[in-house]
Amino acid sequence: MSIISDDNDFCKQIKRNPNIKSETIEFDKNFENSIRPKTFEAYIGQTALKETLKITIEAAKKRELPLDHLLFYGPPGLGKTTLAGVIAEQMGVDIKITSAPALERPRDIIGILMSLKGGEILFIDEIHRLNKVAEEILYPAMEDFVLDMTTGKSQTVKTMRIPLPKFTLIGATTKAGELSGPLRDRFGIVHRLEFYNNEELAKVIERTAGILNIDIDEKGALVIAKRSRGTPRIANRLVKRVSDFALVKHDGKITENVADEALDMLKIDEFGLDTTDRLLLKLIIEKYDGGPVGIETIAAAIGEDVRTIEDVCEPFLLQKGLLQRTPRGRKVSPEAYRHLGYKTINSQQSLF
Ligand code: ADE
Repeated sequence: MSIISDDNDFCKQIKRNPNIKSETIEFDKNFENSIRPKTFEAYIGQTALKETLKITIEAAKKRELPLDHLLFYGPPGLGKTTLAGVIAEQMGVDIKITSAPALERPRDIIGILMSLKGGEILFIDEIHRLNKVAEEILYPAMEDFVLDMTTGKSQTVKTMRIPLPKFTLIGATTKAGELSGPLRDRFGIVHRLEFYNNEELAKVIERTAGILNIDIDEKGALVIAKRSRGTPRIANRLVKRVSDFALVKHDGKITENVADEALDMLKIDEFGLDTTDRLLLKLIIEKYDGGPVGIETIAAAIGEDVRTIEDVCEPFLLQKGLLQRTPRGRKVSPEAYRHLGYKTINSQQSLF
């Protein structure tokens, strides 16, 4: 299996957010690629989903047909791209990896579809961001494995059908709700990826530490797991940061105490909240009496963009019950007041 990846979107991310340093993104991406599991056995967590996928793959192999188109949705960092790679490996086919913002012009999507070979997998990340034209090119490609091309102008317009090899599209999105109905309906299989529990994350951490030759004990792994917001991508980043700390401040081994000390220094609390999460919650509590307050107002006040708040901060705060979404904006929960050490809610009700 070979992986062909399209890096354009990373350049766009950098342009969109000048705070993200290009070297950091490249480094993170290379690091992530180097530790990606390639088999279902090595892929930790998402147990129910893995079992279903194994059956789907076996059936497709028995029928000697490509897999149905698949849609994975859920918060970022839970392993959607990794899972697509595992599926390709298991099917014994190549995978081409791209993302919707890199398919801006019709020729981008046409080019990639025409380059596919029979049975290959096309992975499109952030598929909810696909533009209308690209979507319409994709419909007949997904449904009938053809490209409908038009030439000429108004009176003389001609349509041509170009056959494509049978392929599988794997779409990934953090926002299933923003996918258009017609596109969603063309996926035969739709799955949600769940946050990982602490035991699963500890296993991910131990596996990564093994690959990177990092010395860690069980308790050290569990401390990092508990502060990783149910997300392997965060767990893997933290294990590296904690390992640096262990090397410089201790003897290199990650134990419970070393992990606690390092994560305190990184200002990641026992819930896994970082400075931005706490800033967001404190803003709503102190300036808006607990909310509701609109997302744009929050974004402007804490200097983050709306998309980062919606995609990165919110899913975990919502899942932890610290934040609530209401039609009138975001509200913090009594649990958030408690977690941040406030004694009263809404400047009236007592917590204790
Ligand atoms: N690294 C990132 N996600 C992983 C997973 N689900 N299993 C093992 N290692 C991982």
